[in-house]
Amino acid sequence: MSFTIIDNARARLNRSELAVPGSQPQFFEKAAQGPADIVFLDLEDAVAPDEKEKARKNIIAGLNTLDWRGKTLSVRINGLDTHYMYRDVVDVVEQAGDKLALIMIPKVGTAADVYALDMLVTQIEAARGFKNRIGFELIIETALGMQNVHEIAGASKRIESLHFGVADYAASTRARTTNIGGANPDYAILTDKDETGSREIHWGDMWHYALSRMVVAARANGIRPIDGPFGDFSDSEGYRAAARRAAALGCEGKWAIHPSQVALANEMFTPSAKEVERARRILAAMEQAKRDGRGAVALDGRLIDIASIRQAEVLVRKAEAIGAD
Ligand code: GLV
Ligand code: MG
Repeated sequence: MSFTIIDNARARLNRSELAVPGSQPQFFEKAAQGPADIVFLDLEDAVAPDEKEKARKNIIAGLNTLDWRGKTLSVRINGLDTHYMYRDVVDVVEQAGDKLALIMIPKVGTAADVYALDMLVTQIEAARGFKNRIGFELIIETALGMQNVHEIAGASKRIESLHFGVADYAASTRARTTNIGGANPDYAILTDKDETGSREIHWGDMWHYALSRMVVAARANGIRPIDGPFGDFSDSEGYRAAARRAAALGCEGKWAIHPSQVALANEMFTPSAKEVERARRILAAMEQAKRDGRGAVALDGRLIDIASIRQAEVLVRKAEAIGAD
């Protein structure tokens, strides 16, 4: 292990993160009752410019008056390049900051963007005497943000998670896409001819590099990597496949841009009973090895060692948090 110790951000369940437009307060109650781990009320791209002020008021009223049943709540503010942002932060945090666990900052480009928000939120919290400290979720969704992702991930102690905003990322990098977060048949490999002369097309995941880069930056800074939206909410199999890929890379959850995607995210990011059971057996086998003075043992014909313990411990802790064991 390095002499540099990574402090982990506050742990929270973040399997599903449901987006709810601030301009649609009729959906707040349903979101409060639903199974999403985190709900983010949106002031940014789901809200038209002439609805921004009303949406802000809706969100403040919703935070203060609805029974959210202990749900983790976030508000996505507008970008730092807009004149809406300062008022989003000042009004929402001053008037409802004690109800808010997180602020989601879109299109973060540099570490200084986070610093600026940290300063503002710190002042408002101090002035209001709030006991809670609001955490930050940062969306990495521009070429600039991806270039600076490592610096950004360590820019404030408030940061809890990085989110891959694939829609804006595609726009920023001018990627050719078909649907938000989905596969593109142009991003494929043509195999060599086989003995019969035929060739196959193997689709690739055009988001692999970006998501993977973001995962590394998040984990190296002790924060959660979260995968962003999947636009076609009628395609549950496509959503599952995208979520499975993100989970395989180390992401802890994925956005739901429609309530029907929440259960899919919860399903895909909950470890299976079989995985949990195996993790428990690894921990038990390693306990026994320790007692016997051995560093590594075989379980089901495979080597397990100290690294296996760390993975198993993370999995069991997660299962306990979910109540899925
Ligand atoms: C999310 O904000 C995205 O742009 O994908
Ligand atoms: Mg976006």
